[in-house]
Amino acid sequence: MTSATADPFAKIRAATNSHRARHGCNAYPYDNGPLLAALAAAANARRIVELGTALGYTALSFASGAPGATVDTIEGDPEHVGLARENIAAAAMDHRVIVHEGDFAVVLPTLDPGYDVAFFDGGAPVPALHKTLRGLLRTGGTLITANLNHGGAAEAVRKALFDGKTWRSALVDEHGETAISVKL
Ligand SMILES: C[S@@+](CC[C@H](N)C(=O)[O-])C[C@H]1O[C@@H](n2cnc3c(N)ncnc32)[C@H](O)[C@@H]1O
Repeated sequence: MTSATADPFAKIRAATNSHRARHGCNAYPYDNGPLLAALAAAANARRIVELGTALGYTALSFASGAPGATVDTIEGDPEHVGLARENIAAAAMDHRVIVHEGDFAVVLPTLDPGYDVAFFDGGAPVPALHKTLRGLLRTGGTLITANLNHGGAAEAVRKALFDGKTWRSALVDEHGETAISVKL
């Protein structure tokens, strides 16, 4: 990030790093909220689903990029849920950013399909959750997958995203950390 002014939610990103140091959790904020905001805008997104809210940094980034969108974001840690809800209310986005408390695998099947954008940022991606996310995304919708270079099960997800048949995918960074994929 070149300057704090380039990211309207830089303070929440910084607060997430401070929180992690105190809480000893895995709330590593995504490194580029403005990219997510631009992707949501480019997709003209009306509905966005996110796995891994932490303190709300990326959910707010998506919501700011797509002013007409609702964001369903899922988080299993009750402390993160409380802090995220506070940050989202303080940003006056609580009418359209909904934090669902619970495990990804439990909450995802309760959501209605037809999302325009889906974001996986809940630790290393695993094939079962990825398959469920695909089912929730409309054809032509955009999936953003973080932590693809974490090895293990993430490698199977990476292979599926680049099979050339079910997704059109590109890596957005030289480390192969994030892929942007369109559902074919
Ligand atoms: C990398 S952090 C998310 C960072 C956030 N997107 C941001 O940029 O600020 C991952 C979050 O996912 C949550 N999480 C991990 N596994 C989960 C699961 N199976 N169900 C629900 N939440 C989970 C963690 O508690 C953590 O807050």
